[in-house]
Amino acid sequence: MNESNSQTEARRGLFISFEGIDGAGKSTHIDGLASAFREQGRAVTLTREPGGTPLAEKLRAMVLNDPMDPLTEALLIFAARRDHLKQVIEPALLRGEVVLCDRFTDATFAYQGGGRGFDLDVLRTLEAWVQIRDDGHGEGLLRQPDLTVWFDLPPETAAERLAGARVPDRFESQPVEFFRKVAEGYAARAAADPDRFARVDAAQERHKVWQQITSHFVRRGLLAIMVASRGGPA
Ligand code: TYD
Repeated sequence: MNESNSQTEARRGLFISFEGIDGAGKSTHIDGLASAFREQGRAVTLTREPGGTPLAEKLRAMVLNDPMDPLTEALLIFAARRDHLKQVIEPALLRGEVVLCDRFTDATFAYQGGGRGFDLDVLRTLEAWVQIRDDGHGEGLLRQPDLTVWFDLPPETAAERLAGARVPDRFESQPVEFFRKVAEGYAARAAADPDRFARVDAAQERHKVWQQITSHFVRRGLLAIMVASRGGPA
């Protein structure tokens, strides 16, 4: 790759999401990846869903704490996503940044679709409304992450990790059967879009999970091997 090509590549926005059931241990690895990309000279936007903007964070607090019916829950999550895309994600990608997003729409299909059993066709309609973007030629494209790191973990292991950790929210307080359905929801999304998903076995020790993640990034040409091998959670 010559100098000008590598500069073009460096400026291209990169949208990466992180998914998995509660207790899968995403957070430290997301921070590690932010450091690794910064070490490579990339600007990084670290964000999360539901949330990421002042409005979306207010909606997050409601979704996580207030009782509501499943359609209200889905609408609030997609309303938060719309604001987040408009205010944070799309502008950061336009600036050529790396956007690391703790959960995105796959979580809605897994939690609301799988866990709650909400109508997947309604979710697909909302996804199309909220994530439509102009390709610059008047054609509508669906915004999806370029890569989704999927922390796959047996629900029983996740439940052991979460037990007594903190006051549970409306999702964390669900029984293990709920998380079994969430996990099936993630597996279905991954099967439908295998190129986008990078599965990691999240039951392994933390440094082994980091190795799995970085080898996905190195293989896809997103991280240099030296940066990947130095970084990572302690
Ligand atoms: P999470 O991302 O795990 O944050 P924290 O580590 O602070 O608990 O919590 C967000 C919760 O919201 C999680 O239980 C999954 C749920 N959720 C949905 O149900 N649907 C969605 O679309 C998203 C993005 C999250």
